[in-house]
Amino acid sequence: MKGPDFHDGVNKGVAPVTYGTGDRPPRGDYSRARSDYTCAQDFAQYTEADHATYRRLYERQLQQLPGLACEEFINAVQQLGTPERIPRFDDISERLMRATGWQIVGVPGLIPEEAFFALLAERRFPVTDWIRRPEEFDYVVEPDIFHDLFGHVPLLFNPVFADYMQAYGAGGMKASRLDACELLARLYWYTVEFGLIRTPQGLRAYGAGILSSAGELRYSVTSPEPQRVGFDLQRLMRSRYRIDTFQASYFVIDSFQQLFDATAPDFTPVYAQVRERIAREGEIEAGHVLAGERLYAAAGA
Ligand code: PHE
Ligand code: FE
Repeated sequence: MKGPDFHDGVNKGVAPVTYGTGDRPPRGDYSRARSDYTCAQDFAQYTEADHATYRRLYERQLQQLPGLACEEFINAVQQLGTPERIPRFDDISERLMRATGWQIVGVPGLIPEEAFFALLAERRFPVTDWIRRPEEFDYVVEPDIFHDLFGHVPLLFNPVFADYMQAYGAGGMKASRLDACELLARLYWYTVEFGLIRTPQGLRAYGAGILSSAGELRYSVTSPEPQRVGFDLQRLMRSRYRIDTFQASYFVIDSFQQLFDATAPDFTPVYAQVRERIAREGEIEAGHVLAGERLYAAAGA
């Protein structure tokens, strides 16, 4: 989410987007996109091999969920429809609309921050419409349809989490004006993508980056290695994160309501305080623990 740079392509649509500084050409066909970066799901593009990739990813992930994913996720995952084939976005949107008023919309790949925030604020979740190649089965650099659907969509069926996502989008539009997107992106990273939740049965995952990962799901919940810190908004916004390996730190919430309530106040003074604190004491490295900080033990370890 940091520093999208735009590469003007020779297409009629919108400029494709890559994140970071690499020269890697962006994946996805941005000539299909409308000005809000959404596009129709190109269902005809899927080959039998693509459907098979989806099914294998889905099955591998599904059997890992018990004891590792939160109940809200497990109960909603069937809303994605049959794991046999890549689902139609319209079918999922219909169910989602009835449950929480959300829709999913196709996008050709990564989209600029501001377009992303605007969609969330309208309760429209962008889902990449292409799937990884077979040789990328275990690791794909950019989010594909499996990450976006399997990882993100089930919790959009939860009313509190659904409201949090919309609030995040609106907050993103404000953060753009306040030049605070980097701090806000940390909140997305450590909650929506890599969040853990405390439940009566023990720690569980609710973050999409974890839930769509073959290896990190078990690691995040049960490994003694990473640090698991209680959710604290300002502490979180001071914390750096890793994009190339399993996380060294996770933040643990008590409930989606706690997350919603803790992020409801105006962030304008929060950003100012966090910046001041960073100026004085620096950022907190991933995996670093502060003196006196209470940590959560791995589940079932
Ligand atoms: N309350 C935040 C603000 O005023 C908006 C927000 C809500 C951001 C939820 C993230 C998540 O900026
Ligand atoms: Fe994601």
